[in-house]
Amino acid sequence: MTLSIGILTSGGDSPGLNAAIRGVGKACQAHYGMHVVGFRDGFRGLAENRTMALEGEALSGILTLGGTILGTSRDKPHKMPLHGKVLDMTETIVANYRANGLDCLVCLGGGGTQKNALRLMQAGLNVVTLPKTIDNDVALTDTTFGFDTALGIATDAIDRLHSTAHSHHRIIVVEIMGHRAGWLALGAGISGGADVILIPEIPYSVEVVAEAIKARKRKGKPFSIVAVAEGALTREEFAARQAAAARKKDKKVKEPAFEPELVYAERTLHLAQQLEHLTGLEARVTILGHLQRGGTPSAADRLLATRLGTAAADLIQQGRFGVMVAARGESSEAVPLEQVAGQVKTVPPDHPWVDSARGVGTSFGD
Ligand code: F6P
Repeated sequence: MTLSIGILTSGGDSPGLNAAIRGVGKACQAHYGMHVVGFRDGFRGLAENRTMALEGEALSGILTLGGTILGTSRDKPHKMPLHGKVLDMTETIVANYRANGLDCLVCLGGGGTQKNALRLMQAGLNVVTLPKTIDNDVALTDTTFGFDTALGIATDAIDRLHSTAHSHHRIIVVEIMGHRAGWLALGAGISGGADVILIPEIPYSVEVVAEAIKARKRKGKPFSIVAVAEGALTREEFAARQAAAARKKDKKVKEPAFEPELVYAERTLHLAQQLEHLTGLEARVTILGHLQRGGTPSAADRLLATRLGTAAADLIQQGRFGVMVAARGESSEAVPLEQVAGQVKTVPPDHPWVDSARGVGTSFGD
């Protein structure tokens, strides 16, 4: 019997998605003789039955491409804006899965995708997922594809900002993606030698940051790079957030997935203004934004995406469904979706990367 597989990409795009689509698709078709079809624009395309043929030459030449040839969206199966309403499209998705004669749906995505895939599994579909996101915040996997590429881009940006900050004796505050977890700001901050790193997991005090910058100035270094993750919070903001979360928990109100980008940008601008005021140095802001997600995947991401993609094909052939293919050392591991969904892999404040950063004198503003 020939198995039929559907593939979709969901959530924010990430370098390595095409390498993963190719890995799953080629291994399923060439190695196991399965039939493979793509769905466009994430769960929306599955709900609207918009397919893309992935046979023949369709998977050739995409290994090095950024973005996703399938398109993506942040739509959720059970809450999809459609025809001016927000509809539960789960039944339609199940019907389209059956109409396409699928034996398994492979969902490539981050934390939200893992939750949505679990919902579809509970609705009766065979599902396998892969972990992608530049934020590196998917639980129970060593890492996610997209992270390494974004890390390289953000590090390169910090390198470039150094020479201009140095020349003008300025503070440059560089905002790096990561609304829930600070892996990217932390990794790029260490690799680029940022003087201050601010991440959501370690609430900071503006005064402490300003003091670290002034201490550098006293040592003859009147310039500083502050790498700030989108979701970094001051101690006060952190306490207010905790209190609001507790109130919401009581009332069982859902928190939004993340804040609009302008809110992050406003906070970053405000931070730069405060630092200018407190240190007497000029400050500038650079928001790296979607540059971090665009373009060619790094070699490490192509390798990881290909490894996990082909491992997904192996699991499908074995009939092992309801799992995420996690990166584990040089190999991979099938982790039950129930264990992954709803979890966020944040940076432990005592993580070795944090210790190393402190070891070379980086301030976390705490
Ligand atoms: O995919 C995760 C992420 O890159 C976050 O770091 C960032 O906050 C968010 O996506 C931005 O998403 P969008 O492209 O939908 O604005």
